[in-house]
Amino acid sequence: MQDTDALKDRLIAAISSAGDVESLEQIRVSSVGRKGEVSLLMRELGRMTPEERMVRGPELNALKDEVNLAISRRRDELAEAALQLRLSEEWMDVTMPGRTRRAGTLHPVSQVTEEVIAIFGGLGFSVAEGPQIETDWHNFDALNMPPEHPARQEHDTFYMHSDGNDGHPPHVLRTHTSPVQIRHMKSHGVPCRVIAPGRVYRADYDQTHTPMFHQYEGLCLDRDVSMANLKWTLEEFCRSFFELEGVELRFRASHFPFTEPSAEVDIRCSWADGQLKIGTGDDWLEILGCGMVHPKVLEAGGVDPDQWQGFAFGMGIDRLAMLKYGIPDLRAFFDSHVSWLRHYGFPPLDVPTLHAGLSRTGL
Ligand code: PHE
Repeated sequence: MQDTDALKDRLIAAISSAGDVESLEQIRVSSVGRKGEVSLLMRELGRMTPEERMVRGPELNALKDEVNLAISRRRDELAEAALQLRLSEEWMDVTMPGRTRRAGTLHPVSQVTEEVIAIFGGLGFSVAEGPQIETDWHNFDALNMPPEHPARQEHDTFYMHSDGNDGHPPHVLRTHTSPVQIRHMKSHGVPCRVIAPGRVYRADYDQTHTPMFHQYEGLCLDRDVSMANLKWTLEEFCRSFFELEGVELRFRASHFPFTEPSAEVDIRCSWADGQLKIGTGDDWLEILGCGMVHPKVLEAGGVDPDQWQGFAFGMGIDRLAMLKYGIPDLRAFFDSHVSWLRHYGFPPLDVPTLHAGLSRTGL
């Protein structure tokens, strides 16, 4: 009896001080396991007299039961403690604000394109499109620039690969949006009032030129459309776009093979402290080319020049974005630097619109 009590006390003490499941398991193996202390004692029962066994058997069984019970209690305690520890370490404050994710921004080119479409939409113009890989004929010949025409050289054209055996000149990356004039006349006829925004390509690269940039073309044909209509349309556009009542445009006689007469248009501006201000001042900044569509161009588009006439113009979208939003370097438009896009981009749900006012609201 004495020895079992001492053994029991020792085992129970060891069990209750076991600090983790592994040491508890070791105690179990060395006590009630197959070769454990208690098991070895029980093995001796066989060698005892029946009387001795009557006393010793229940004693040892009780010891074994107590040890097992103590072990399972301790195991529960350890499991509970481990759970509490995890719960205290892995807590989460569900009342904290969520992690904000930055929304992407609209590129200034997309924004300005939308503004241009909205303004001309209000003037009754719809949107036309043409391919960026264009035939030599649509990009040049149909626009009154036959192969030997010197104006072709001014365009720094990118040519597509051609094996030269099909008898056609190689296709080009369109150097301007003017070929859309031809495509639209051919597909929709007259009268018409369209703008055609899109990408154009020229082999040129400096602070104000990139090999790919954006233009939009305007084309308005009817029986009696005149240069006066052109002037009013462009002034109306600039008034809306730059939000300037007294906007002043200057029409300078110029030359394009596809318009006659032709003009380049400057907008009044000033430079103060390196800042460009549109609308007032003594400087002029060129913003577009335009003119009355040349009869040969109408013919190429399948339109009878004795019945129909009208104006066309071409404006740089990137240029407009630089002017309106004060962006100094055109090259950065196409570098895709995230910090630039965040700074100059427009929050998609808070873009300037015609009805809310076109000036920037998101900053
Ligand atoms: N296509 C001309 C350019 O890219 C612009 C233009 C368009 C001029 C229409 C007159 C009429 O420079």
